[in-house]
Amino acid sequence: MAKNVGADGRETWSSSTGFILAAVGSAVGLGNIWRFPGVAYDSGGGAFLIPYLCALLTAGIPILFLDYAIGHRYRATAPLAYRRMAKKTEALGWFQIVLSFVIAVYYAAVIAWACSYFVYAFDLRWGQDTLNFFVGEYLQVGDPEISTTIVPAVAIPLVLVWIAVLVVIALGVTNGVQRINVIFIPLLFIAFIGLVLRALTLPGAAEGLNALFTPDWSALADLSVWIAAYSQIFFSLSIAFGIMVTYASFQKRKANMTSSGLVVAFANSSFEILAGIGVFATLGFMAHQASTSVGELEGLTGPILSFVTFPAVINEMPGGTIFGVVFFASLIMAGFTSIISILLGVAASVSEKFGLSSTMSAILVSVICGTISVTLFSTTSGLLALDTVDQWANNIGIVVSAIAMAILVVWVYRRSELLRSHLNAVSTFKVGRWWIAMIGIVAPVFLSIMLIDKLRSLIMDGYEDLPQWYLGLFGWGTIAFVLVGAAILTMIPWNGRDKADFTPWPPLGDRAEEEARR
Ligand code: ALA
Repeated sequence: MAKNVGADGRETWSSSTGFILAAVGSAVGLGNIWRFPGVAYDSGGGAFLIPYLCALLTAGIPILFLDYAIGHRYRATAPLAYRRMAKKTEALGWFQIVLSFVIAVYYAAVIAWACSYFVYAFDLRWGQDTLNFFVGEYLQVGDPEISTTIVPAVAIPLVLVWIAVLVVIALGVTNGVQRINVIFIPLLFIAFIGLVLRALTLPGAAEGLNALFTPDWSALADLSVWIAAYSQIFFSLSIAFGIMVTYASFQKRKANMTSSGLVVAFANSSFEILAGIGVFATLGFMAHQASTSVGELEGLTGPILSFVTFPAVINEMPGGTIFGVVFFASLIMAGFTSIISILLGVAASVSEKFGLSSTMSAILVSVICGTISVTLFSTTSGLLALDTVDQWANNIGIVVSAIAMAILVVWVYRRSELLRSHLNAVSTFKVGRWWIAMIGIVAPVFLSIMLIDKLRSLIMDGYEDLPQWYLGLFGWGTIAFVLVGAAILTMIPWNGRDKADFTPWPPLGDRAEEEARR
C-alpha cells in the first residue's frame, strides 16, 4: 500500500476509520482485560461505575481531547508539539516519551507471557497447580534481587515480541500500525464477544455478575475508590503519556477530532465493562465448581488473574482449550496494538529530534528498548521488578504528567482557549468552556489529591513488603530515570529542525502562538 502523505510531507492515517481503529487499539489493552475487572470488584463493585463514569467525563475525555488538540494542531510528537505550543514545555513532552519508553519495556514482557500461555493452552500445560506453574516453573521467581539468570521460556517470546514491534513500526503509520489495527481490532472484538457469550452460559455465571455488580454504596465515601477510578481511566485511555498526541499528529488536517475522541473513549469503556462481565461470569463458574462464593476466591487482579486464576478455570471448563486459546490470543492482540502505539510515540520523537528517517529510528528505539526489556524482565526477578516499575510509572509518572499538562496549558501558557478554538474549528462536536474548567480545575484538583495520597502511602508504608533499596532502585529510580532522561533530551539542540516549514492550521490569529514560533 502506498504511504499516505499530507501536504506538509507528514505521513497520515489513510482515513478517519484507520485513525479511530488505531486509537481504539492503543486504548484497549492489558489494562482493560487484567486491570479493570479486579479494580472494579475491589472498589465497590456496581457502585464503582459512578466514580468510573465521573473520572471518564471529568478527566478522561477532557484530557484525551487535550492530547488530540496538541498533536493535531502542532503536527508533531509530544516534545516538538509542546515546543511549538510554548517553547519551554518541550521538557514535558520528553517526560511523557521517556515514561512511554519505561512502560513499553515492561508491557512487552506481559505480552510475551501471553504468547507462551497461548501455546500452553493447547494442551493445558500449566497442570492443576497453576500458581506454582506460573511463578515457579514458568517465571522461576526468586527473591527481590538483581538477577542475571535468564529464563529462556520468557526470553524467547519476548525477543519475538520485540522483533514484531520493530517490523510494524518500521513499516510506518499506514502500512504498519494502521494495517495491524485494522486486522486485530475487529478480530479482538469478535473473539472477546465470543468469550463473554461462552462465559455467560456457564453454571454460576449469574453469581459472578452479582458479585461484580452488586453495589457497595459505602465505597463511594472512600477516597481510594475514587483514586482507583481516575488511575484506571488514565492508563486505559492511553492519555497523558504522549501516545494520543502522536496519533493525532498523523491525522489529516481536516479531521473530526472530538467526535473520533468520543468514539474511542466509549469503545474503550465498553470493552472494559465487557471484560468485567466476561471475567466475573467465568469466576462465578469457578466459585460454583468449588462450591464457594466469588468473594472467597483469591487472585482476582493483575497478572495472577490472567495467568493463574484463568488457567485454573480453563482446566475445569468443558471446551476449556478453545476458551484458553481465544483468551490468550485476545490478550496478545489487545497488548500488541497498545505497545506499538507506545513505541511509535518514542520512535517518532527520536526521528523528529535527531533528523533520522522513521525506519532508522524505529530500528534504533526498538533495539534499545527491547534489549533493556529482555535484560530486566526475562530474568528470575522479572515479575517483582515489573510490578514495582508499573506501580510508580502508572500511579506517579502518568499522574504527574497529567497535572503538569493541565497547569502549563491552562494556567502558565494560557493556550486552552486557542486549543478549544482549534478543536471546534475542525470538529462537529463542539467543546464549550466546560472543557477548560475540566482540564484546568476539576482534573488537576482530583489528580493532585490522588497523587499526594499515593506518595504518602508509598513513602510511609512502602510497597508489598519489598526492601527499601529495591523500591529505591525500581520504584523511585523509575521516576528519577524519566526526569533525568527528559532533562538530557530537552537540552540536546534541534539544529533548526524544530523550525522546519511549519504553520499551525487553521489560522486562529493567536499572538502568543505566533511569537512562540519565532
Ligand atoms: N491503554 C493501554 C492499556 O489499557 C496502555 O493497556
